[in-house]
Amino acid sequence: MPLTGRRTLTQYLIEQRRRFPEASGDFNALILDVAMACKAIAREVAFGALGDVLGNHAAEAGGSVNVQGEAQKKLDVLSNDYFLRITEWGGHLAGMASEELEAPHQIPPQHPRGKYLLAFDPLDGSSNIDVNVSVGSIFSVLRAPATDGRDVTEADFLQPGTQQVAAGYALYGPTTMLVLTVGNGVAGFTLNPNLGEFMLTHPHLTVPEDTQEFAINASNSRFWEAPVKRYVDECLAGKTGPRGKDFNMRWIASMVAEAHRILMRGGVFLYPRDTKDASKPGRLRLLYEANPIGFIMEQAGGRASTGRAPVLGVQPASLHQRVGLVFGSKNEVERIERYHAEPFQKSLDNPLFRERSLFRA
Ligand code: AHG
Ligand code: MN
Ligand code: MN
Repeated sequence: MPLTGRRTLTQYLIEQRRRFPEASGDFNALILDVAMACKAIAREVAFGALGDVLGNHAAEAGGSVNVQGEAQKKLDVLSNDYFLRITEWGGHLAGMASEELEAPHQIPPQHPRGKYLLAFDPLDGSSNIDVNVSVGSIFSVLRAPATDGRDVTEADFLQPGTQQVAAGYALYGPTTMLVLTVGNGVAGFTLNPNLGEFMLTHPHLTVPEDTQEFAINASNSRFWEAPVKRYVDECLAGKTGPRGKDFNMRWIASMVAEAHRILMRGGVFLYPRDTKDASKPGRLRLLYEANPIGFIMEQAGGRASTGRAPVLGVQPASLHQRVGLVFGSKNEVERIERYHAEPFQKSLDNPLFRERSLFRA
């Protein structure tokens, strides 16, 4: 144990690597580069208005929108640049995919190309930047198909979440934290701002199986599908309803912050498929939001689902594909899946049927 009394992220990674004596160290170096990008972003976030980083990105004064059609914040663009610049030189990556870039990012010719792919949301919850509420970065590491140094294509990234080698997020809250899975449980690190090091503070994060707390954007309720309406109605009915217990509700509008709360004390998060916009099967993006958070949840003993099936099993069809997402305490996620699987969903809109459904197990 070092003088600080805690293990660093570097030590944790080295100890994990000892499970694979043949490992080259590329993977660890990549994760340390990602952690460096997160530390750089944390500093920018912390300076806020003093660092002139709040507000929308100017792009020749007209503002800018990303491939999702969303207005880009200055910090979205800055964070994306940190991820690209700090991870592209090391020789560990064959290419990258980002929420902020329409096409995959190619490793510049002056740098060697490596065997991993990195997909990331450089800043999640960016609508919260200007109001000083927690935001974060989310990342997913995949193995690159044999590319022989060629440019990467969209198809290279279209791997189901079960193929992830590692996933994690950084949370820029009252403290900066890094939460990581390398497929062997979930560990949480807190940034020691004096040392500039991530210290292992949460070695074995687990999500309790049961909860009395849910998170959903209720302003979308008129667009929800019947199973989601039923689930939320039953939570709201509390002690007097079929669940027989009261529920609490939260909505931060930073998925990464909700995921963190759920890792700390349980809960369930829903951004389900709805009927708001038929062209969008959900709000959140599969490759760099749902899959990494899903991997972390499953590794912590929780569950992540589209509402119908495990999200990690979804075969992606495009880089920026959206998906319905439900994750958190296992028993709640399974209940929501059960509601989706039950027949006569439509009839639940019928108050008579709903009455009867209340008396089901
Ligand atoms: P991003 O800032 O990367 O675009 O993602 C925001 C996402 C997610 O973090 C959050 O849960 C959700 O959008 C909030 O959606 P609403 O605005 O519908 O609440
Ligand atoms: Mn996001
Ligand atoms: Mn984002």
